[in-house]
Amino acid sequence: MERSVNTEINIYSTPEEMFAKAADEICSLINYYLNEFNRCSVVLSGGNTPKKLFEILGKEYNERIKWGRVFFFWGDERCVPPDDDESNYKMAKEYLFSFISVPDSNIFRILGEKPPEEAAAKYEAALKHFFEGQAIPQFDLILLGIGNDGHTASLFPGTTAIDTTDKWVDYLYVEKLKSWRITLTFPVINKAKNILFIVDGKGKSEIINKI
Ligand code: 6PG
Repeated sequence: MERSVNTEINIYSTPEEMFAKAADEICSLINYYLNEFNRCSVVLSGGNTPKKLFEILGKEYNERIKWGRVFFFWGDERCVPPDDDESNYKMAKEYLFSFISVPDSNIFRILGEKPPEEAAAKYEAALKHFFEGQAIPQFDLILLGIGNDGHTASLFPGTTAIDTTDKWVDYLYVEKLKSWRITLTFPVINKAKNILFIVDGKGKSEIINKI
């Protein structure tokens, strides 16, 4: 049965306005799932753009979101230790987790310090346990960014991960970044109940228009 997909594109005149609106939207989505199911699974995006958004959520939404029943995952991770400045986990810890009270057991970190294949396998096993019985994990909300080349998560154009459909989590070497990455695959991303792309920066308007 085809799923109905509602797509909404919002363009804001300032990053501040975009982050404020995004935070509100995320808050209402999380509270909907907390009220309906007493839990909400959220996939965090990485890179630089989400920092301001995470800071707003961390500092301004403690009264409005009961974080204790929110479960955090990542769309992708760099293959680095969790205290490395390149780590998406470290960024989320610094800009979000340091302001909210959420049990460590609610945070499903991708083990970037492990060899890529092992990190991907362990992350996929954790997802299979959390989403027990689901053929493809269905996250309540996935936050994503977009790179200048149109990549999202770590699904980079021209890489094999783009076409992976038999795994929930893949690992890949990104030649142009000279780095290994772990990423959710497209079947998992496309299964989500809600996907929020948050994109900022003049350098991205061309790729956004193309997309
Ligand atoms: C990552 C991200 C990646 C990111 C885009 C945009 O680990 O880098 O998950 O998909 O969202 O590259 O990054 P910026 O927000 O830094 O422009």
